[in-house]
Amino acid sequence: MTMTQKAIKIATTKIIGSSQRGTRGVDTTTTARSSSLMRGAIKGQQRWYDQRSSSSRKSSVSFKTRSASRRSPVVHATADDGYKVAVLGAAGGIGQSLSLLLKMNPMISDLALYDVGAIVKGVAVDLSHCNTASTVNGYCGNEELGQALKGCDLVIIPAGVPRKPGMTRDDLFSINAGIVRDLTQGVADHCPNAVVAIISNPVNSTVPIACEVMKKSGTFDKRKILGVTTLDIVRSDEFVSTLKGLDVNDVDVPVIGGHAGITILPLLSQTFPQTSFSKKETEDLTVRIQNAGTEVVEAKAGGGSATLSMAYAAARMGEAILRGLSGESDVYECSYVSSDIVPDMPYFATKCKFGKDGIEEVMPIGDITAYEQEWLDKLKPELKAQIDKGIAFVADAP
Ligand code: LMR
Repeated sequence: MTMTQKAIKIATTKIIGSSQRGTRGVDTTTTARSSSLMRGAIKGQQRWYDQRSSSSRKSSVSFKTRSASRRSPVVHATADDGYKVAVLGAAGGIGQSLSLLLKMNPMISDLALYDVGAIVKGVAVDLSHCNTASTVNGYCGNEELGQALKGCDLVIIPAGVPRKPGMTRDDLFSINAGIVRDLTQGVADHCPNAVVAIISNPVNSTVPIACEVMKKSGTFDKRKILGVTTLDIVRSDEFVSTLKGLDVNDVDVPVIGGHAGITILPLLSQTFPQTSFSKKETEDLTVRIQNAGTEVVEAKAGGGSATLSMAYAAARMGEAILRGLSGESDVYECSYVSSDIVPDMPYFATKCKFGKDGIEEVMPIGDITAYEQEWLDKLKPELKAQIDKGIAFVADAP
């Protein structure tokens, strides 16, 4: 048995311990060793999903100091009393990789893979052979959506079509808006209390669509719906650490706004640890982070958009949500949510605190530089238009 196999086995056969007790009767008597082994097993000797950013970081402004949870063990459930998580669009490029990462998460006991493509059943069988604690089931087509969603704590939606070179995320609206609307209706009908994490682009519009569907169904809870913008943070952390020769495990750059082009606004001035950038570095990094999705679309030359890095980011977001649900304190991630932080912007991405009911608190932006303020002023009309487009899509439906 290799080191990796051993580590995964230990992590999945033991209850991962903590000094805290989760809400689901998690026995927390064992040590944190298995938790760190689990992460080490998956990412070399590093952590699993780079949890440092799930916790608030000590920034120069308003965010709380780096939380205890960054260093302390995580509350993980056993397979028996863990969470049910559904991936809608599980047979696609993001969906398959994301499902694999979720299969390795010991907080999850039941993984429901849903897709309109029949191959999803095979993907579920394939994944079910991995000797981790969760069970995996595949569900195909609208008639099986209810079964997939019943009892879910968390629903992650990567369903939809990806960009091709030359397209903006907004160009996906005509296809993906309807997909997200219908899947969210399924959530409203079958698991209205689940947290819903939306990856499907254009996120700036699909999150408002999902919220409007829930409102129409009388099941809207703003703490339960978010757009996954984690990849913007993942990229920022990676680019900054490479440029500055910092340990990537220590770097955290908050990214606010939305998830498309200039609506993506990295707050480099709030980089943790405090880091100084020349004017040129700031400008180059900002633009690169805004265009990083396009960088992948162009590199794949017609073969789609980011799948692996997006799956990694979504798995990290999913883990943060489950940690919050389990009662762990001080779990933070930037995400795109219903918000009143920026006037006239009903949806906006900022750092959010996750708790037992989902998004517990939407954090303020904090102090920003004149350069960042310029971008903020510029992004607002564009983001607002994309939000309005999503809202109108549901309002105008017959
Ligand atoms: C990304 O940021 O990579 C995704 O939103 C996919 C895309 O179209 O860029």
